[in-house]
Amino acid sequence: MDNTIKAELLSEKQSEYMSLIAEIMEIRKRGEKPLAFIRTYGCQQNVADSEKIKGMLARSGFDFTDTPDDADFILFNTCAVREHAEDRVFGNVGALKNIKRRHPQILIALCGCMMEQEHVANRIYNSFPFVGLVFGTHSLHHFPELLYSALVDGRRVFERGNDDKKLYEGFPVRRDGSFKGWLPIMYGCNNFCTYCIVPYVRGRERSREKDVILSEARQMIKGGFKDITLLGQNVNSYGKTLEDPVTFAELIREIDSIDGDYWLRFMTSHPKDCSRELIDAIAGGKHISKHLHLPFQSGSDRILKAMNRHYDRKKYLDIISYAKERIDDVSLTSDIIVGFPGETYEDFKQTLSLIREVEFTSLFTFIYSPRKGTPAAEYDDPISAEEKGKWFKELLDVQEEIAAKRCSSMVGKTERVLIEGVKEKTGELNARTSGNIIVELDGGQDLIGTFQKAKITKARNWILKGELV
Ligand code: SAH
Ligand code: SF4
Ligand code: F3S
Repeated sequence: MDNTIKAELLSEKQSEYMSLIAEIMEIRKRGEKPLAFIRTYGCQQNVADSEKIKGMLARSGFDFTDTPDDADFILFNTCAVREHAEDRVFGNVGALKNIKRRHPQILIALCGCMMEQEHVANRIYNSFPFVGLVFGTHSLHHFPELLYSALVDGRRVFERGNDDKKLYEGFPVRRDGSFKGWLPIMYGCNNFCTYCIVPYVRGRERSREKDVILSEARQMIKGGFKDITLLGQNVNSYGKTLEDPVTFAELIREIDSIDGDYWLRFMTSHPKDCSRELIDAIAGGKHISKHLHLPFQSGSDRILKAMNRHYDRKKYLDIISYAKERIDDVSLTSDIIVGFPGETYEDFKQTLSLIREVEFTSLFTFIYSPRKGTPAAEYDDPISAEEKGKWFKELLDVQEEIAAKRCSSMVGKTERVLIEGVKEKTGELNARTSGNIIVELDGGQDLIGTFQKAKITKARNWILKGELV
């Protein structure tokens, strides 16, 4: 079967819509710049999508504001991964009703992963009549046209659920940061882990051309970016939809060979196809962070099978031990789900023993949340929420102990850090190591966005204190 996907450029028609929007908004605002307020929920894929949306809005004449009441256009880019994420969005959208009452001319819009679910779009349509525009992740490449219709036709525009299985290039991108940035290398996911909504709301996996990624990386490095994260739901299967297939390890080695002073990171890696070649690439890289985020989800083989993860505990631990052997002082992080349907306390103990064995720097831990339309949502789930809460707390306690131990082992060492910002409360600088560990230190704000050397003086749980060297 031919599964190659060739990229198409954002159409000329969309550029025309952007100019038209700029013209009508200039008239409506009597020459003043229209303002957009954008809020992004969820993962970095959504952050990267919002940067494209902001790019298209900037081309359409918009400036940006942090105050919703000042805006002409309010957009929430939503996440569907857990119920809690969706509840937050519904709560915050409800609160927009008052803004719409105060400023009836505002256009309120919702987009992103939640909007690709039919039952969510229907609920918005029926219960939130002040929402004028809704579009899903598959509609990004004609956002200007949708925005134009919503602005001039005076009717509600809802568009979702039409994955044309294509990949679009040529978006204008307006990046949020000036030294830390995201670079998507692929979209979608083919894995269908039984708990996960992502494949349903983001469609099939498709990789961007290697040369397009390389040229974007060069541009970012030239533009002063110091910390670049390559994005994909499963970066280890990068390249499979290209006419000339490329492996992720090959891609990252090529990016790494670009001259400059920067760190290169990537997320997320799936253990089922995390190759030794990739670990060798990290070990031999000049710019690649000595950090591997490798979600294992559960330490029990029985649960991994029920999750459709396609690896077992032994395979996971084999990759980890190879990474520890090849990469000095490697920083390991992971995602874990507690309370998957059918998980017993015995299964959960296997997760605890795995985190004790690996000693992760930090963990992203989640209590299982049933997602409508996924297989696991139909499975029997006899364990009570209260019981799952206790397991979850136990997991956090164990990890806290491990993180504290890992962090204290760094005291006395000198680390290269990237200064990222200022901690509001204390005025200290916030920095990060190549292994993605936070270091707080004293220093001038002019250092933000630069690499410095820091001597680690103290460890407090998973945060380090340091001094500039
Ligand atoms: N593509 C990435 C993960 C994307 S979602 C990967 O495969 O690792 C980020 C994390 O959210 C997942 O790793 C998982 O731990 C968690 N997650 C996804 N669906 C969930 C659900 N239904 N309930 C609880 N956690 C979930
Ligand atoms: Fe979800 Fe699994 Fe795909 Fe990750 S790999 S996005 S957890 S289906
Ligand atoms: Fe959420 Fe969509 Fe990311 S569901 S986690 S924003 S891919």
